[in-house]
Amino acid sequence: MGLVWLLFFCGVSSTVALDNGLALTPPMGWLTWERFRCIIDCKTYPMECISENLIKRTVDLMVSDGYRDAGYEYVGIDDCWLEKTRGPDGRLVPDRERFPSGMKALADYIHSRELKFGIYQDYGNLTCAGYPGVLGYERLDIDTFVSWDADYIKLDGCYIEPTEMDSGYPAFGKLLNDTGRPILYSCSWPAYQEDKKMLPDYASIAHHCNLWRNWDDIDDSWWSLERIMDWFGDNQDRLAPYAGPGHWNDPDMLLIGNFGLSEDQARVQMAVWSVLAAPLLISADLATMKPEFRRILLNRDIIAVDQDPLGKQGLRVYKEKKIAIWTRELSQGAYAVAFVSHRTDGAAYVYRYTLKDIKLPEQIYDVQDLYHEEPHRIATPNEEFAVKLNPTGVKFYKFVPRFAKNEDLKEVVLVKGNSLGN
Ligand SMILES: *[C@@H]1O[C@H](CO)[C@@H](O)[C@H](O)[C@H]1NC(C)=O
Ligand SMILES: *[C@@H]1O[C@H](CO)[C@@H](O)[C@H](O)[C@H]1NC(C)=O
Repeated sequence: MGLVWLLFFCGVSSTVALDNGLALTPPMGWLTWERFRCIIDCKTYPMECISENLIKRTVDLMVSDGYRDAGYEYVGIDDCWLEKTRGPDGRLVPDRERFPSGMKALADYIHSRELKFGIYQDYGNLTCAGYPGVLGYERLDIDTFVSWDADYIKLDGCYIEPTEMDSGYPAFGKLLNDTGRPILYSCSWPAYQEDKKMLPDYASIAHHCNLWRNWDDIDDSWWSLERIMDWFGDNQDRLAPYAGPGHWNDPDMLLIGNFGLSEDQARVQMAVWSVLAAPLLISADLATMKPEFRRILLNRDIIAVDQDPLGKQGLRVYKEKKIAIWTRELSQGAYAVAFVSHRTDGAAYVYRYTLKDIKLPEQIYDVQDLYHEEPHRIATPNEEFAVKLNPTGVKFYKFVPRFAKNEDLKEVVLVKGNSLGN
């Protein structure tokens, strides 16, 4: 306990952001991995293989379907874009059949649509899927990425010892900095250390990376989503203090728009991710996105919670009887509160909570349903707040304090008491 608190307070006082001017709010964009994995057979899967066609099609849809205007900015290629061997000059070579125009041309296409270009590599000898990694070629590879005008590098951690990462990831970050090009730096450093039950040095990670994958990959199911939410809730005291402008915990990609989540479950992920100040990285086929999922991804009120300028990661403040409550402090004294049901027994039940249960300061709030289904209401310290939750569903609200000062609060309670008495 003592150690945990010591770490907590040291973290708060000594965390210094990676000073590259990027990710002042959690990065938003699109990334191939969760949906498209390592599909490299373009004959069998012409619409799904990792290729410049997939990226260009996605870029066009990000513009035409409103994702870019909602803030989704980075378009990232994850693993499986490479040839299996480096070129004669030692440089990385993109797969010649799937990226025939080369990465610079693809980056130009992305930039011409006012989006940004993300690329994947791995700190070890090989990438996780077995393509050449950067180990021993760090400087050359960064030079290559810069020549392609890359804006974002996700550096994975397969084929390298997790004990090497405490020095390796900062060294790679130093080389990135030396180029003078602002490149968002996504580290998988703690994920591999957590996996080995090591205690990652989050102060150092937050100092050297813009975002970092803390734990396991997400898969396309409610089961996987629940596991990740549980882990982030259970470990929040070790993680949340290190999130802030320039540096974010990353619970992994959004599943929304794929096969595994119902509409209710997709709403859960969008709500909890925004409470966690998580990067919002869509990994879905935008060409086949159903309108109900697109609406969730484009919900501007929820995106505004995720992107809140205070940059404070929210916490799971309650977990009992298969209900979890997640609360995030926002700028201007407001709060975002997500009530999540983990029940699967059929009916939508009503639950009642006090402001104390939700861990909100006792004052009067205007409450707005961020999924826009309920009318505005008022929450007060004297009444329980009722929420009706679908099984594996969410209600997500913004609580905006109606009066700033305590005297005002007393007055209102008094007036309210009077009006009830009349
Ligand atoms: C990486 O490859 C080199 C050369 O083959 C080898 O010496 C080294 O042990 C490898 N490192 C890891 C972590 O596998
Ligand atoms: C490199 O690091 C310095 C010192 O932290 C910082 O001021 C500068 O903005 C960084 N440059 C880039 C391109 O990341």
